[in-house]
Amino acid sequence: MEVRDRVIVVTGAGRGIGAALCRNFVAEGARAVVVSDCDANAAASVAKETGGLAICCDVGREDDIRNLVSRTVQEFGRIDIFCSNAGITAPGGLDCSNDSWQKLWDVNVMSRLFAARAVIPMMIEQGGGSLVHTASAAGLLTEIGSAGYSVTKHADVAMAEWLSVCYGRQGIRVSCVCPLGVETDMLDESDPIHRYLHLHSISAAAAATAIVRGIRTEEFLILPHPEVAEFFRMKAEDHDRWLRGMQRLRQKLTRGKEANARHENAKRAA
Ligand SMILES: NC(=O)c1ccc[n+]([C@@H]2O[C@H](COP(=O)([O-])OP(=O)(O)OC[C@H]3O[C@@H](n4cnc5c(N)ncnc54)[C@H](O)[C@@H]3O)[C@@H](O)[C@H]2O)c1
Repeated sequence: MEVRDRVIVVTGAGRGIGAALCRNFVAEGARAVVVSDCDANAAASVAKETGGLAICCDVGREDDIRNLVSRTVQEFGRIDIFCSNAGITAPGGLDCSNDSWQKLWDVNVMSRLFAARAVIPMMIEQGGGSLVHTASAAGLLTEIGSAGYSVTKHADVAMAEWLSVCYGRQGIRVSCVCPLGVETDMLDESDPIHRYLHLHSISAAAAATAIVRGIRTEEFLILPHPEVAEFFRMKAEDHDRWLRGMQRLRQKLTRGKEANARHENAKRAA
């Protein structure tokens, strides 16, 4: 789908990849760009810079998504492209709290369902539309440092696939963006796994360029890091071998962190 003359909504657009996407859509001649974020000030600042319309929305709340969609339609009459981009992470595995898991589930997964419910009937009626999910390479592979992020991003990929299967023949294009590291606030320099991701990271602007290209060519999987296709192929070809490789990588990356934790525990016990 061409971006020119389209009405486009981007969630999580107050910074990072979402803000870069808004800049790109405006540069490509979109008719209107709605800059949405739960941080109203951040959304207002990107909207001011790009000439977009800021709408505050917490994507984990269905009422907020309904309001975002109805206000956009009131203002511009339609929505051609809805980018479900807002996402969060939380470190840890078994130790990650139930509250954090629930928040990850609401923001990374339920938000995509709420958006699809709110826009698909209208898009079908208007003759088509496009849903763009910013998932992650963690949704195809894994994120060693965060069980909740890995699981919810897998769920986001599954949701995008399901939407494409069920609505593709009714004019709904679905794209699923699966980047590795992108230089935004989400990458935490104090985390050894994030530092490793940083080695191969790209800018938010480069990620946005790849996403706009993927929307134009109507690809399902948009891979701003092309090597993810190769990693995904290796996983599908031999799952056990891939798991052994990931176990080795985890051991290498977390050795220092685990030694520190053992040292702190020993100090506390003494
Ligand atoms: N940065 C990376 O390395 C990376 C890699 C792969 C995928 N992603 C995905 O890209 C997307 C964008 O992340 P980013 O790197 O730009 O992060 P970021 O932290 O820079 O920006 C995320 C934005 O989302 C907003 N947000 C958070 N919770 C929200 C909510 N409940 N409702 C509405 N807005 C909310 C934040 O206020 C922020 O402005 C996320 O889905 C993330 O999982 C990021």
